[in-house]
Amino acid sequence: MLIAGNWKMNGDPNTLGEFGKMIARAPEAAHNGVTLIVCPPAILTAKCAERATVSPLEIGGQDCHPEPNGAHTGDIAAEMLAACGATTVIVGHSERRADHGEDDALVAAKATAAQRAGLRAIVCVGETEAERDAGNAETVVNGQLAGSLPETLDPARLVVAYEPVWAIGTGRTPSTDDVAAMHAAIRKTLDARFPGAAVPILYGGSVKPSNAAELLAVPEVGGALIGGASLKADDFLAIALAAVKN
Ligand code: PGA
Repeated sequence: MLIAGNWKMNGDPNTLGEFGKMIARAPEAAHNGVTLIVCPPAILTAKCAERATVSPLEIGGQDCHPEPNGAHTGDIAAEMLAACGATTVIVGHSERRADHGEDDALVAAKATAAQRAGLRAIVCVGETEAERDAGNAETVVNGQLAGSLPETLDPARLVVAYEPVWAIGTGRTPSTDDVAAMHAAIRKTLDARFPGAAVPILYGGSVKPSNAAELLAVPEVGGALIGGASLKADDFLAIALAAVKN
């Protein structure tokens, strides 16, 4: 199981108290095959990675640019994240797709860049509420997978996160049957694209301690991508401990 926390645009160098608790308690959860990752804002990558050297907690980025360097004001290269101690980067999060107009081709380029830099790429996909209501959820997600996952990716350093857009930050989650159906569909697509590879498929969207055990027990759910609940050490660790039990 892989448990990844996405802090989004939260946290600064003066507010790392919760992170200290996560480092101290990570060994409780980071065993029995559970990988724990925290993805702070880019300004904290190096600081968090330095503090986490004593801990099994890994550090990730929330986004990267496709190029390794150059005239791209405000952007961060995957190589920079790697040089600062990151092991992982999230690409194609729905907030990037919506707020910054990122399309599948750009997400594919970012996933490729992540692996070029030696990072694990967590590629996010997920339908909007309107798409689900129209009965198009699987078609939309399959289209995102087709466009965002070039066949040249190394499946050993690839993770897919299914995050229904309408479940992110809303407190709402799909039924476990709906999660199971979508994860089975994603697995079928991944098996066709990367035969024989066991690419983990995370569920994301309003995961919290009270629903983690149920969601993590769904077939083909290989972990969770957690937003709000990853800001509090107690909540993040409780979710990670639910993963240990699975
Ligand atoms: P949430 O966010 O846990 O706050 O719903 C999930 C995500 O966006 O990865």
